[in-house]
Amino acid sequence: MNFVVLCSGRGSNLAALLDAHEAGRLGGAEPVAVVCDGHHAGALNVARERGVYATFVPRTAYHANREGFERRLLEVLAPFRVDLVVLAGFLRILGPTFLSAFPQRVINVHPALLPAFPGQGVWADEIRYGVRLSGATVHFVDEGVDTGPIIVQGAVPVLEGDGPDELAGRIRAVEHLILPQAVRWLAEGRLEVSGREVRLAGQGPAGRPGALIWPPLDHEGGKVLKFS
Ligand code: GAR
Repeated sequence: MNFVVLCSGRGSNLAALLDAHEAGRLGGAEPVAVVCDGHHAGALNVARERGVYATFVPRTAYHANREGFERRLLEVLAPFRVDLVVLAGFLRILGPTFLSAFPQRVINVHPALLPAFPGQGVWADEIRYGVRLSGATVHFVDEGVDTGPIIVQGAVPVLEGDGPDELAGRIRAVEHLILPQAVRWLAEGRLEVSGREVRLAGQGPAGRPGALIWPPLDHEGGKVLKFS
């Protein structure tokens, strides 16, 4: 399964994907190209340092012309036999021109527990709102803003004194775990989508789920509930 990664920023999620690939943890998924929406994106260097083809399509050159931008993206991807598109910090909304070329084959990582806090730069909003738990979501991309079927989520506590950067860093550590895992499940053909529901086939005897409660309860002494 060939995948391309679209990025706008520093590319830490891209690096996590390439690390997982080098470690043989992507279930045979092969990164074939990285495309950024501007030439400043750090992700371009991350890709080139690892020997992955990288290029950019400057969004600014297309102004209000989203369709033109998406058509150009498709042209850039055309030479590659792309099975999956991974949005890893790609800060553009993709519309029908692009998405119809890859039905249920575009996934995104988002720094919140969707459907709470969709959109961009959400960390300050989460802190202002006073949520105790936040986290990261990997989901299929549909034409809404962060509305597609959810593949996997991971939760982290919001700690006293957190600023947006501290919270973003804690969430990012979870993104780096769940994004490569989602790519692997797709490569292994283990995800089945039915409406909003995403089923994971062949779930192994991994640890039982527990509750993450924050702040911790006094009488639980920091333990979490386990469910069978
Ligand atoms: C990540 O935190 C990702 O969740 C977020 O951009 C960051 C990119 O970091 N994406 C969004 O906010 C999309 N709505 P990275 O360039 O270091 O991977």
